[in-house]
Amino acid sequence: MRKAIRSLGLAALMFGLLPQSQARESARKADGKLVFEQNCASCHQGGGNSINRDRPLAGSAKLQTMTQFKKYLNAPKGHMPFNPHVISDRKALDALYKYCKDLPKVTVKQASL
Ligand code: HEC
Repeated sequence: MRKAIRSLGLAALMFGLLPQSQARESARKADGKLVFEQNCASCHQGGGNSINRDRPLAGSAKLQTMTQFKKYLNAPKGHMPFNPHVISDRKALDALYKYCKDLPKVTVKQASL
């Protein structure tokens, strides 16, 4: 009897954990900062652009509307990589868009040679 109660408890625990981990997964995807850090920050640290300093992300005209942003990510220019997994996940894309729009604008400084 005790064993039965214990396995019943275990089953309840397993069922209880399942939806929780699914919720965690969608919360992770909806975290714009995290999506940014995982896919964009290597080149756009702090909203800038370490590869082409004249093209910072923060304050970019490509962020004016979601349509423009999505269009750019679908066909990026120069050394900007194509990120199909970000574009195909609507929640992640929405969160990323909001995060990028809120980045404080960076001033493009000319490197002193
Ligand atoms: C490997 C480096 C790299 C990564 C990673 C990267 N980018 Fe870029 N990004 C660039 C470069 C280089 C440009 C400038 C392209 C050009 O020459 O016009 C750019 C340009 C942009 C622009 C347009 C800026 C403008 O006004 O012309 C946006 C918007 C942008 N990136 C968003 C993103 C987002 C969002 C991510 C993450 C999903 C991302 N980038 C990841 C390198 C990168």
